[in-house]
Amino acid sequence: MKSSTDTKIAPSILAADLGRLAEELAAVTEAGADSIHIDVMDGWFVPNLSMGPGMVETVKKYVSLPLGVHLMILDPIRYVEAFRDAGADLLIIHPEATNAFHRSLQHIREMGMTAGAALNPATGPEVLEYCLPELDVILVMTVNPGFSGQSFLASMLPKIRTVRERVDRSPYQIDIEVDGGVDVATAPEVIKAGADILVCGSGIFHHPPYEEVIPRIRSG
Ligand code: DX5
Ligand code: ZN
Repeated sequence: MKSSTDTKIAPSILAADLGRLAEELAAVTEAGADSIHIDVMDGWFVPNLSMGPGMVETVKKYVSLPLGVHLMILDPIRYVEAFRDAGADLLIIHPEATNAFHRSLQHIREMGMTAGAALNPATGPEVLEYCLPELDVILVMTVNPGFSGQSFLASMLPKIRTVRERVDRSPYQIDIEVDGGVDVATAPEVIKAGADILVCGSGIFHHPPYEEVIPRIRSG
């Protein structure tokens, strides 16, 4: 049985002070973060623009934690190699963003990374049914992707529970990650619903000191 102390925390640098990125990374590492989450947006799949492989390379220089890169871009297969070369450990893609979803997941693993699937709020988990053998992570979005600081959608809790049950019935080792509006107030429900990894942007970076807020989020 999973206990909440096993919950992993992935700070999302979208909400960090990028002018002090090296310090921010050192501070969340010191505070016990388990990985770093980097949001990549193309202005097509989501309305916003954000970071690219250059930023991943920079983050890699300053931190020894694993890097999870969340691609909110159309046809992500085009950039798999670029993000591998930049230092991504986990590459997360959206089934809504490509006609070659299964092949893209295979390609991510062939390139030596672990593979994740992120589900928009309107997307049901059944889309992943035939991809479970290719997956290391399922990320349930609890906001519509594109911006940090949005309100947590409690209507996604049943989806997290459904994904948890499906993964537990499967022979696969797949982590369940939750992204969007996760903070001290919403983390307990997310952990109870079965999440293994919590992505937190403003919930961490807008609520220092990190050595207090990270353990509080983790403990649910
Ligand atoms: C939203 C991104 C999130 C974002 C989370 O599109 O995928 O990772 O950084 O930010 P918060 O935790 O502030 O909702
Ligand atoms: Zn994200």
